[in-house]
Amino acid sequence: MHDHPWLRLALAAKRDGAALDAGVWRRIIEGYVAGEIDDAPVAALAMACTIRGMADAEIAALTDAMVRSGDVLSFGSTRTIVDKHSSGGVGDTVSLIVVPLVAACGVPVAKLSGRALGHTGGTLDKLEAIPGVRTDLDNDAFVAQVNRIGCAVAAQSRRLVPADLKLYSLRDRTGTVPSIGLIAASIVSKKIAGGADAMVFDVKAGSGAFMRTVEKATELAQTLVRLAASFGRRASALVSDMEEPLGAAVGSGIEAVEARDFLRGDERDPRLAEAIFAVAHEMLRVGGVAAAEIEPRALDALQSGAAYERFALLVEAQGGSRAALDGIAAHPHRATAAATGDGVVTRIDAAAIGELARELTTADGPFAGIRIIARVGTPVRTGDVLAECAGSAVDPAAVARAFTLGAHAPPARKLVEAIVRDADLAASSNARS
Ligand code: URA
Ligand code: CA
Repeated sequence: MHDHPWLRLALAAKRDGAALDAGVWRRIIEGYVAGEIDDAPVAALAMACTIRGMADAEIAALTDAMVRSGDVLSFGSTRTIVDKHSSGGVGDTVSLIVVPLVAACGVPVAKLSGRALGHTGGTLDKLEAIPGVRTDLDNDAFVAQVNRIGCAVAAQSRRLVPADLKLYSLRDRTGTVPSIGLIAASIVSKKIAGGADAMVFDVKAGSGAFMRTVEKATELAQTLVRLAASFGRRASALVSDMEEPLGAAVGSGIEAVEARDFLRGDERDPRLAEAIFAVAHEMLRVGGVAAAEIEPRALDALQSGAAYERFALLVEAQGGSRAALDGIAAHPHRATAAATGDGVVTRIDAAAIGELARELTTADGPFAGIRIIARVGTPVRTGDVLAECAGSAVDPAAVARAFTLGAHAPPARKLVEAIVRDADLAASSNARS
């Protein structure tokens, strides 16, 4: 590998706490993607960023350089195209539901998604569980589908932000994933390259999330919104609780079943509904819908069946059929995870439930998984059902062990801990200056 004296100087400066300028960030990312700069100096830089932090201008410069590393989609539309990102949850069926819901309210949604990561589920795996559905849309097909039916859910193409693929795998090997600046650049670069004019981030906080505390999650939420705004994009970020699984269903296909039933009005888990309304509200807000119109439009789209109809259109556009959508159901082998004592559910280990659901879907297929019956705060007696397991690969007793019983109900936690909006940040920075 070549020695780059300018790079050694930049690394030393970053190590000592200085901020690097935009030209240096651009040169580093270009050199790294082109193979002219090897992993060693970039790993050192990532570690310096993780320990020292990054100034907003550095995060923006890195994001810009990353966007320039690959294709950038354009919808050629005068309408505001919205995307939504979740930092990864357990039982997080929100994307499957809000994409068609928001589209049915007249705001186009171009959703680029990832695969399951660790114990957290991936939207692509959930959607692909519906027979026939594909998510490997090429750029042109993705754009055309959004312009035609108002929504699409596709796998992040390898041609968008190739710098992120390389950088993320280096970070994964070097203990430098949990840097707020590097995470924000990674997330926002992909949304900008995906052509989004406006974006909503759902940052999870708690034992089932990558950000363990509300404080850290809020810092990431604020950084994401400021970064998006610096690119002229409307943005909101929610900080939401991931101490217990979000919806009742945890798996992949069984979450698609839950999304279908929610949209069709057959069954609506109240906790999931709260999350759906909060996220849909922000998507419609950044999509330009007037505040007073947001709630009535969303309710009407659900009640009239328009949101479900849009989901069916999305499934059809991506290779599935209405019959396939109607036909999906949980794996027929059912077993119950039962309480081994009396008490109140004080905790449900979301990460453990996510791992067990992953084992079930790996062994028994996408329609295996876990359905939570007794939420935190529910009183139970010995033998009562805590959860149902679909599939046979996991011992139900192991699922029961993810539930902690205590004498008293824990204090209620809010599902949505905070909402950070671009307009509020602008107002507070004006007030400061
Ligand atoms: N998700 C991303 O896309 N990038 C990160 O760095 C972390 C989570
Ligand atoms: Ca546009």
